[in-house]
Amino acid sequence: MLNLTETTPIRTLHPRPAAAVRLACFPHAGGAADAFAVLAGALPDDVEVLTIQYPGRRERGSQPCATDLAALATEAAGLLASRLDRPLFLLGHSMGALVAFETARLLEREGTVAGLVVSAARPPGDDWGEPDLDAMDDAAVIAELRRLGGIPEALLREDDVVEEILRLLRADHRALRRYDRPAGVVLRAPVTVLLADADPKNSAEQVRGWARHTTGGCAVVPHTGGHFALLGRDPEVVGFLAGRLLAAPDPGLVREIYLAGIGGGTPRLTTDLTALQEQARAVMTPAVYGYVAGDAGTGDTGRANRAAYARRRLLPRMLRGADRRDLSVTVLGERLPAPVLLAPVAAQTVVHPEGELASVRGAADVGVPFVLSTGASHTLEEVAVAAGPQPRWFQLYWPNDQALAASLVRRAERSGYSALVLTVDAPTFGYRPTDLDHGYLPFLHGAGIANFTADPVFRAGLPAGHDTRAVVERWAAVFANPGLTWDDLPWLRTVTSLPILLKGVLHPADARRALDLGAVDGVIVSNHGGRQLDGSVAALDALPAVRAEVGDGVPVLVDSGIRTGSDVVKALALGADAVLLGRPYLYGLALDGRAGVAHVLRCLLADVDLALALTGCARVADLTPDLLTPADGESRHACTVRKLDRGT
Ligand code: FNR
Ligand code: LAC
Repeated sequence: MLNLTETTPIRTLHPRPAAAVRLACFPHAGGAADAFAVLAGALPDDVEVLTIQYPGRRERGSQPCATDLAALATEAAGLLASRLDRPLFLLGHSMGALVAFETARLLEREGTVAGLVVSAARPPGDDWGEPDLDAMDDAAVIAELRRLGGIPEALLREDDVVEEILRLLRADHRALRRYDRPAGVVLRAPVTVLLADADPKNSAEQVRGWARHTTGGCAVVPHTGGHFALLGRDPEVVGFLAGRLLAAPDPGLVREIYLAGIGGGTPRLTTDLTALQEQARAVMTPAVYGYVAGDAGTGDTGRANRAAYARRRLLPRMLRGADRRDLSVTVLGERLPAPVLLAPVAAQTVVHPEGELASVRGAADVGVPFVLSTGASHTLEEVAVAAGPQPRWFQLYWPNDQALAASLVRRAERSGYSALVLTVDAPTFGYRPTDLDHGYLPFLHGAGIANFTADPVFRAGLPAGHDTRAVVERWAAVFANPGLTWDDLPWLRTVTSLPILLKGVLHPADARRALDLGAVDGVIVSNHGGRQLDGSVAALDALPAVRAEVGDGVPVLVDSGIRTGSDVVKALALGADAVLLGRPYLYGLALDGRAGVAHVLRCLLADVDLALALTGCARVADLTPDLLTPADGESRHACTVRKLDRGT
């Protein structure tokens, strides 16, 4: 048994009593709590870092080292159980990942663990292939330490330091090798796996199995660096962690605004996302505003999209104690902090010079995944770098050239996009009077074609000594692909292992056909925000039949017309797994670049969070169709609800 009374095994490196979340950190074999000092200092004030000190080191040096990892977890869980009053994340590095995993397993008997983040660690059920350090001489162990890096060379030359490191390392390795691998243990908490690209001990293949240990979704997040990259002040890792931990729900926004208001401050941009359009109009040329805000035809479908939300009203439930909300959802096996993604929108440099780079950074600031359009003004490779470790998907406009299509997909795979969105509702642009009246299409002015001009297949098709006009002409020749049919889809499946979502589906029979072909993994119910076929059905109205057709378990997302938290809640209640936001973030981008995009998302997520609270739902899964009633159907729905209420 461990002696818990001698010294405290848990420390707060930077006390932040008002922090929104806590992060408990578990060190690696041979490591001590101070290993996390640099990381703790670099994380934002809204994260309070707790570090776990295993016995046998530093201030606990007089205690024997633990002989088994379960004992370390029992001790940590005992101390952390009283700290579940706000979101608690556990972070384990290398061997610490197993201790954190075991601790999460115990804590989940008491309450909710917000998330487990593991670094430099293979799954608990897998053989780690660790050598027996007791059978290796000191020189061999030190050589291994050098190979992994992490301990400064100067320290490795000091005999007493090396002696202490070897003592701890050997003791911890004994515990690690004795660990009873829990093949079948599954957490509820989402798991994030940090994978350094130059870690000699772990590869993408070797860490993949973490997904088997959670029902909360598992994301592998690649980053640069070696085995110990987590423990430095690497801005990529720190930025990602901050985003992950502080991502939605963001109750801070509302509080922050009111507090600033005491001193007379008001937000620079409106918090009413329906009013943002008018603010943004002032900073765009009429042609650009027309391109972004415009609908097809008379705008009938654009209006129908909004009307479909207005026609449905929420029938909230009271006194259900939804004091802490969890906005997270799992889509395609990836945990998203909120049920919102940024929709693919082409040619973003027409509204802001930083275009998609600013948008993806704004999305990353809030932890929301970004879907990059084929028609982007920055290359998918540049956007991947700007995204850092944040999740991103690639939207494919399947060009009229198979080799070019394959090349775009391969580039997206290589650049870490984790899903493909194949848009099928734009075989040609719709009839758009706002663009026609200005004679304006951004692509013909050179915006939105970067993925083409950077592509080797596209470039190979250009005439020698080409000028800008020749580039645009070639783009026009390959971009549209009106001849694409269902028969082509299986080919796409053969060129990529990425999950594929079909965007622009409205008819349930199309959703069925896509799934029956076995070529896609899910659908996005969308009418392109009303920009394509005027008179087509509102996306929200098409959603229930598509969901009913494909059944539960198939990802169904929706976009077109979403502007408020209540809209998101309505779409989720009707069966969507998540929603995509289009124009509002473009308005934020036009007004204030990256900060504007982040502002829009923070507003939307704060609104979603409050809409959940006021509907009486603590989780997205609690949103069910009985929370909706037709705007003019008061008595009809009251009957239904009375029936449903019996027994609840
Ligand atoms: C889009 N949309 C879009 N969709 C897509 O699959 N590829 C693309 O390149 C574009 N480009 C694009 C440009 C602009 C200016 C807009 C406004 C939209 C459609 C987009 O992904 C989404 O379906 C709608 O924007 C959703 O409707 P709301 O949120 O704008 O009402
Ligand atoms: C649009 C195309 C690019 O809606 O999807 O403008």
